[in-house]
Amino acid sequence: MAIKMPTEEKHLEKKKILVVDDYLPTRRLILDALDQYSQYEVHEAENGEKALELFQKENYDLVISDIMMPGMSGMDLLNRIREKNSSSSVIMITGNPTVDLTVTAIKKGAVDFLTKPFDIDDLLYKVDIHLREKSLLSADNAEAISEQAQLKTKSDDLSKQGYIFDSIDDSPLDNDVIFEKIAALALKLVDGEFCSILLFDEQDNEFHPKVVKSEFAGVDQNYTTSPALKMVFNEVIERKEAVVINDNEHPDLSPSLICAPLMIRNSILGILSIRKKKNRQIFDKNDLHHILSLTKRASLNLENKILYESIYSNIMDTLKSLISSIQARDNYTEEHSRRVTETSLKIAAQLNCSKKDMESLRIASVLHDVGKIAVPDSVLLKPGSLTLEEFLIIKNHPTIGENILRPVILLEAERKIIQCHHERWDGKGYPLGLAGTDIPYLARIMAVADSFDAMTSNRPYRQAMPLEKAIDELIKGKNTQFDEEIVDAFVKIL
Ligand SMILES: [Fe+2]
Repeated sequence: MAIKMPTEEKHLEKKKILVVDDYLPTRRLILDALDQYSQYEVHEAENGEKALELFQKENYDLVISDIMMPGMSGMDLLNRIREKNSSSSVIMITGNPTVDLTVTAIKKGAVDFLTKPFDIDDLLYKVDIHLREKSLLSADNAEAISEQAQLKTKSDDLSKQGYIFDSIDDSPLDNDVIFEKIAALALKLVDGEFCSILLFDEQDNEFHPKVVKSEFAGVDQNYTTSPALKMVFNEVIERKEAVVINDNEHPDLSPSLICAPLMIRNSILGILSIRKKKNRQIFDKNDLHHILSLTKRASLNLENKILYESIYSNIMDTLKSLISSIQARDNYTEEHSRRVTETSLKIAAQLNCSKKDMESLRIASVLHDVGKIAVPDSVLLKPGSLTLEEFLIIKNHPTIGENILRPVILLEAERKIIQCHHERWDGKGYPLGLAGTDIPYLARIMAVADSFDAMTSNRPYRQAMPLEKAIDELIKGKNTQFDEEIVDAFVKIL
């Protein structure tokens, strides 16, 4: 992105900027970037309170503040700045942008957002644009007004980019959906008629279509096979750069065409190509700029997801091998986990649980007895009834399971379910003795499935209970051992 810094501004007075962030490296990064420009006078504060102290002494043209800070949050600081009737522009930094947060901050008068990790060029661009916009607000000559109009277009550009970011970031964890979304967004952003995303296979030097999207029915599937287009694609791959081609240069390709690489860590994942602008127009620099913003963001997003998926599947493999190692000792545990998973999911479906909850429940059910890894064979495999000491050892397994999962931040919800799967509605369960709705909902579902399976399975020391008897036991346990609503839902299925 080309950044025009206001070196030749008429206003020789320095613009005062205050950077507020409790995390020193981020603060330093921003300060270093801004310090390169002599027209800025930059101050820093490590928290909201310090920032307000500085505000007592002088006014700032621009404040760049983190939202999440210990003590006074960025939002509180924004409120206090507005209470002071200050005209400072405020840019908020957040690691976790949500629509709610964005709307609240904009209503409170934030002018823009930066999402961590942010691009320093993006930061400088936003600082420049908002400071100039601000100084022009008071200007009244014709030149200034025309520049104001230009800035308005740039601001619209920024919100268009914000729209890109939000739209992609809301995507579920499914790469196919993301590719679909990227293609649809690309068409919308540049008024294109036809978009395709092709993944590049380095081994056979081939492009494989992932999404082919058109504004019209009857999509031309041969699009990817045209030799002329393949040459363009190869050029994009080789140069790792986007190209815009218009018909006077390559009449055999398309009236107008943009091809941009999708990169992950400097290697090419694929290509996004857009053909034909609506109303027989041709793509220009602005269109290219939008497509580059989109592909850059999309690449980052895909990289995160791929990374997330590989970490996630590694973790799941490790945990499943733990379960298998229990199975090597005790055949019952794995079979039991499989059945509990099946039953829990049926109950959850009956209760209209969300897709996300179903996934959590599935993972937690598979792993719910992982803590039994710490129970010695003499106790785990004991055919007769357990002594009090032995029972205490067994009772430890939800806590041990919770400990095993504790380092895995991705499985926070599942960890809680595992920890609480032996809690009882009346508070007489273990390990925490939680009662009623203090027990996580999904753990209450699993408790019903778990108990039902224990009752209806053959064990070395006792026969399985007949189905009717087990149902009776569940009904008897309503509001003592189990959540009534969950038992009712399960009995309905049975
Ligand atoms: Fe258990």
